[in-house]
Amino acid sequence: MAEKRWFWATLTLSSITIVSVVFAVMELAENRFFRNANYVTLHYLYITRGVASSLLLAFWAAWFVLRQRRKSEEDLRRSRERYRGLLEAFPGAVILYDSGLQVLEWNASAERMYGYARDRICGRQLPILPAGKMSELEEFMGRVARGEAVLDVETTRLPRNGEPFEVQLSLLPFRESAGPMYYLEVTSDIRERVRWREHMLEIEKLTSMGKMAAGTAHHLNSPLAALLIRVQLMRRRATGGALDEDMARIEEGLNFCGHFVQRLLDFTRVTPVEKKDLDLGAIVESVAAFFLPAIQSKRATLLVDASEGKGQQVCADRNLLETLLLILLSNALDAVSPGGEIRIRCRRISPDRVGFAVSDNGPGIGAAHLARVFEPFFTTKEPGKGTGLGLAIARNVVLEHGGSIQIESEPGAGATAYVDLPAAGAARLAGRIGK
Ligand SMILES: Nc1ncnc2c1ncn2[C@@H]1O[C@H](COP(=O)(O)OP(=O)(O)O)[C@@H](O)[C@H]1O
Ligand SMILES: [Mg+2]
Repeated sequence: MAEKRWFWATLTLSSITIVSVVFAVMELAENRFFRNANYVTLHYLYITRGVASSLLLAFWAAWFVLRQRRKSEEDLRRSRERYRGLLEAFPGAVILYDSGLQVLEWNASAERMYGYARDRICGRQLPILPAGKMSELEEFMGRVARGEAVLDVETTRLPRNGEPFEVQLSLLPFRESAGPMYYLEVTSDIRERVRWREHMLEIEKLTSMGKMAAGTAHHLNSPLAALLIRVQLMRRRATGGALDEDMARIEEGLNFCGHFVQRLLDFTRVTPVEKKDLDLGAIVESVAAFFLPAIQSKRATLLVDASEGKGQQVCADRNLLETLLLILLSNALDAVSPGGEIRIRCRRISPDRVGFAVSDNGPGIGAAHLARVFEPFFTTKEPGKGTGLGLAIARNVVLEHGGSIQIESEPGAGATAYVDLPAAGAARLAGRIGK
């Protein structure tokens, strides 16, 4: 508005000046050269003065107006470019729509995030609302219309191909000088953040569960051991009596409890790890030999191929490595039916990684269970049989040694646990670099 006033003031003042100058120049010329001119000449001179000043004025005004218009067009173009540049460079998806959800603006991030091209979406109905989110958006729009802020709320949006995902959304009012109100929706993809948050929650849960388990196990350990000894003594004294079978049951139960408590203590172990260079092949063979009677008592067979592990050193805690192997072997033994087969094979994975695989021909693990086998306390075994801590401990042990563990299985086709560990030299090198 002020600019317009300036424009007209400048134009008027400059025009008056031009006319005055023309008149003054003509007046001077007449005085000097036409002092004795007759009436008709003077008359023509007056007409010339009028016409000349009008023409000059017209040219001046036309030039002035045109120049001004070109300047404002240039300003407009530049500000439009700046606005588009800002919009395109903005990392979040920026979408402008009206109260009927017709899209008016759609930036490059929105194209990337939702998979719709700008040209195809502008003028169309907003297509990224997942089912059931309409009422939420209506509520947000209501709040914005009342002048309240909708900032950084978490909700979901639906991309062109795929599943709805989590976004952080702000909804802002957008109004041009006079006209209807539009809604500016700014969203950013927070899938990764949500995943991490869930992960952290899970870790927190496990930590507190672990602490509780450690406390419980610690308290139960001694009374259980005492009970077991007492029952064993009573059994020895009462051999042949009617209570014999009951006693055997009690002993079995106490053994399981003792085993469970031991597993809990292993799981929440705080004792320091003592790593040294060990021959992987030799350890595998000795654990296999130790475990063989249990396998034979189920009339199953154990095939050991430790050849690739012979002479392969891993830097590990002997107890933990043996525990790891025992856990995998006992899971395999639980899985096979009488007469089944368990294999254990050492593997040289690369010059600086070695490992082993334990497989069985049991019923295997379905996908839903496979995703959960490493969870502490996850077990499919009947109460009194499974602790659900074996694989959780196995994973802790492997991670502690800088390795990885995977279980592959097809229901009906058995299961295989793959463990790989850094070879001794590589483990030390990684440790040194890490320091
Ligand atoms: N070799 C295997 N074959 C089939 N299922 C297995 C095997 N190893 C583990 N599982 C499944 O993983 C679950 C968790 O194993 P684990 O953590 O050792 O606990 P637990 O053996 O006490 O149940 C088992 O209950 C079982 O369902
Ligand atoms: Mg187990």
